[in-house]
Amino acid sequence: MGVMHIPGHEHQGPREVSLDEVRSVLGDCRRCPLFETRGNIVFGTGNPRARVLVVGEAPGKNEDEQGEPFVGRAGANLNGVLALAGLERSDVYIANVLKCRPPANRNPKADEVLACSPYLREQIRSIWPDIIVTLGNPATHFILKTEIGITKLRGRFHQMGHFLVMPTLHPAAALRNPAWQRLLEEDFKMLGEYLAEHPSRATGEAAGHSDALPRLED
Ligand code: URA
Repeated sequence: MGVMHIPGHEHQGPREVSLDEVRSVLGDCRRCPLFETRGNIVFGTGNPRARVLVVGEAPGKNEDEQGEPFVGRAGANLNGVLALAGLERSDVYIANVLKCRPPANRNPKADEVLACSPYLREQIRSIWPDIIVTLGNPATHFILKTEIGITKLRGRFHQMGHFLVMPTLHPAAALRNPAWQRLLEEDFKMLGEYLAEHPSRATGEAAGHSDALPRLED
């Protein structure tokens, strides 16, 4: 398996903070203008000790209404490809870069990402997964600190400090493009193979050690 090493991510390690604590610091967030138009904050959902963290872009309409990530058509597609990896939704943790819906689902703005990203960073430090799956360009660019397009990055794992990052296509985009859907499915099968071949944590170390974490606030 080709693994690309990403330098410069030797900063923060895991932290003994619960997701509930992170959520309570977020509170009724007004740190960016999206609070004015949101219905619900969509913090994240799933297994707080997940081996796999799935990171999307931002809540859409259904997510904004229900307060849960990936509950619309894209969510059904995500559930389907997770199954290809031998995973149920409840096995993984699912969160977004932005916790509030941008109006008309426009792309996240830089200042919104800046305001919101400390919460994703703390979620990552709390969960301390082995693998971070990034869905689509905004999530991938944010986590991998690159502007390279997702179609060039997908199809392999990228080592980033402690984490293996698997960038892949966004399940909503894949619904509009059958070729992308096949690539999305291929990637999740690759994830399933990796998990089957590596039944314990990727590095063989327990959580709570001094591995690196990307500076997600950058
Ligand atoms: N798209 C995303 O990126 N995240 C969601 O939660 C739903 C759709």
